[in-house]
Amino acid sequence: MIILGINETSHDASVSLIKDGDILFAGHAERYSKQKNDWYVNDGLIEDALQYGFPDQIAYYEKPLLKASRLILRGGSGDWKPRYIVDDMFGKKVPTTYFGHHYSHAAAGYYTSSFNDAVIVVLDAIGEYNTSTIWVGEGEKIKLKYKQNYPVSFGLFYSAFTQLIGLMPNQEEYIMMGMAAYGDWKRYYKEVDEYFPSYSKQKYNFHKGITDWGMTITEQDKFDIAAAVQMVYQQRLNDFMHMAYSITGKKNLVFMGGCALNSSANTLLWSIFDMIWIMPNPGDAGSSLGAAAAMYGKHVNWKSPYLGYDLGGKYPVDKIIEGLNKDKIVAVATGRAEYGPRALGNRSILADPRDPDIKDKVNLIKQRELFRPFAPIVMEDHAHKWFDMDFASPYMQYTVKCLQPEKIPSVVHADGTSRVQTVNREQHPGLYRVLNKFYLQTGVPVLLNTSLNIKGQPLLNDERDILDWETTYNFTICR
Ligand SMILES: [Fe+2]
Repeated sequence: MIILGINETSHDASVSLIKDGDILFAGHAERYSKQKNDWYVNDGLIEDALQYGFPDQIAYYEKPLLKASRLILRGGSGDWKPRYIVDDMFGKKVPTTYFGHHYSHAAAGYYTSSFNDAVIVVLDAIGEYNTSTIWVGEGEKIKLKYKQNYPVSFGLFYSAFTQLIGLMPNQEEYIMMGMAAYGDWKRYYKEVDEYFPSYSKQKYNFHKGITDWGMTITEQDKFDIAAAVQMVYQQRLNDFMHMAYSITGKKNLVFMGGCALNSSANTLLWSIFDMIWIMPNPGDAGSSLGAAAAMYGKHVNWKSPYLGYDLGGKYPVDKIIEGLNKDKIVAVATGRAEYGPRALGNRSILADPRDPDIKDKVNLIKQRELFRPFAPIVMEDHAHKWFDMDFASPYMQYTVKCLQPEKIPSVVHADGTSRVQTVNREQHPGLYRVLNKFYLQTGVPVLLNTSLNIKGQPLLNDERDILDWETTYNFTICR
């Protein structure tokens, strides 16, 4: 059976196609429409997905009428009505099933995991009503164990402060997370803590933003507030995760929802659980796959996050090494696009992390703020010598202390940490060969890896994007 999963009406629409449990396609609307965090599915995305088969079933990631009822009765902002779910969308009626927002998150996580027994925690801004849920996955069954409803919300708390310091809520939370390393968390800890004193209690509905801060915010204050927010978030997350463990007794964690993108906070979860799976697209964009998996009702065959638009080609190992030797910075676009917000080697800029000036140079290419950090990719078998970690991080989901910062200064943040992506031979043979060749030349098994895009624009996707980039920026892309 072919199932088409869809998510719309939220920040970052996407589509996934599975056939008998194999994931044939998963892609983001923004990469086709070129509208960052596009809320709606478009024809280009659907046409790309349908190359892999025509759906027998459509699975939608949310219950639109339930969401509409919350918008009317309880407030909040946003849309609820999917545009692509109409009877004749493909020229014939395709039966559609609607799954709950948090259930789709849970299914996206559990059914792509290797676990047969796990606690599943979903934390986001808001679904229809749910904001925080705990589930148990056993065999092929997923059961709800705990729920917390709007307006108390981990995600809304974080987004409201993102907005307070002048960034875009629902989009630039990751910038605030990066800013936290430059701030003094103690300066505003007391004030911020009063807004979120326990995981089930908040000062008021954060959908309205922070309405009573009452103090002028200087440039330095922004960094100090970011640090305090990150600290309070981590403490509440720690409390919530301990509660999830205590009510389920499970030592395998599946963590999903937009909050699972907070790589600085994710690292603390290793002190509570034995094994952790965060699907590399844990936010709403991952829920098109979640809805499809929920419809399938069983584990799907997860192989990799390279599931989007296919540029074809063989990984250009030698061209990348040549470019690194010559210019220290190369762009690469090849094969299938990443499903998820992180560039994991197929739509990436790679650079020599040993040069302390590389960070500024790459930030200038990407037109980003100069304080913004970059992430390292490291050969998995060398990771423990360079970073304080005893686990793999194939999808760049954990921030850990760098053990040799003087040797790779351009991938170490102000607080001495790095958001690490580990790479092994099976996971990405081409990227592993690049790292191995660089290691044999330099003794350093690490490269800087960042997304191939300009700030505020989606990742490059197809041939036309590559041509546009090369023409506009006079910067050749390896492919
Ligand atoms: Fe969500």
